[in-house]
Amino acid sequence: MTISDYQTALVTGASSGIGEAVVEDLVKRGLTVHAIARRADRLEELKEKTRCTTHILDVRDTKEMNDLFSSIAPDILINNAGVGRAIDSTVNANPEDLDQTIETNVTAAIHAVRAVTPSMIKNGKGHIVNVGSVAGLYPLSSSVYGASKGAIHFLSTNLRLELVGTGIRVTEICPGRVRTEFYDAAIDDQDIRHKLKETGITEITSADVAASITYALDAPWHVNVARVELQPLEQTYGGVNFDHAPQGKE
Ligand SMILES: NC(=O)c1ccc[n+]([C@@H]2O[C@H](COP(=O)([O-])OP(=O)(O)OC[C@H]3O[C@@H](n4cnc5c(N)ncnc54)[C@H](OP(=O)(O)O)[C@@H]3O)[C@@H](O)[C@H]2O)c1
Repeated sequence: MTISDYQTALVTGASSGIGEAVVEDLVKRGLTVHAIARRADRLEELKEKTRCTTHILDVRDTKEMNDLFSSIAPDILINNAGVGRAIDSTVNANPEDLDQTIETNVTAAIHAVRAVTPSMIKNGKGHIVNVGSVAGLYPLSSSVYGASKGAIHFLSTNLRLELVGTGIRVTEICPGRVRTEFYDAAIDDQDIRHKLKETGITEITSADVAASITYALDAPWHVNVARVELQPLEQTYGGVNFDHAPQGKE
């Protein structure tokens, strides 16, 4: 099973960043590509550039999504739509932001899997690529976003068990910092956004991430690229923090 054995791909979160780059790559590789997002103007530009098929859809609308995705019956699902609302603080978060992050990053991704797998099982082939994050694997002080990507990690891991023997491959992509519009959509406060967004390092690009996805799709049929982690050379993760609790201070 290499990319040439697939005909149709469905990419969520295709109006910018990683999703947009994946659409461009897959169209170039000769696939029929369905691009999904909410912003009509950005999808229109992508359609003009690539000749992909576009669908304006909020992936949190489960019924619309299920109807559309099951009617497309793609060979490839790129489960990429995601937001980082409340990425800077759970304690100070608006409840709506918590909901938006979980509904977009987790609930919608699971429903998308449910919508496309029956036809993949019937065809005996398919590839689900879930875009997670290093935040789903390592400690970062972004607990809700990390929880959402941690869910994507175990969705991917456990799907491979559920789907063994069906011919469906499941790949989890875990990028570190990618230069996209992600932080602009995630954080309203200019100062906090600037602090979190402007790292001063050379970040990885959407094209870098898209190339890793194409690599996984292009593997021979007996190879399931289970997880790809890509980090900027100048960024690393984890660590231990020490600080006094209030009652420990004399
Ligand atoms: N940038 C990073 O540093 C980084 C690192 C690790 C992982 N990631 C993950 O990579 C994925 C893509 O993010 P990105 O960095 O490329 O950011 P981005 O440029 O902001 O792209 C996010 C995409 O998701 C779409 N989206 C958001 N909510 C949606 C909804 N309810 N329905 C449909 N589409 C929705 C957006 O389109 P509309 O707004 O037009 O709907 C947009 O196309 C996300 O899952 C993100 O968590 C990013």
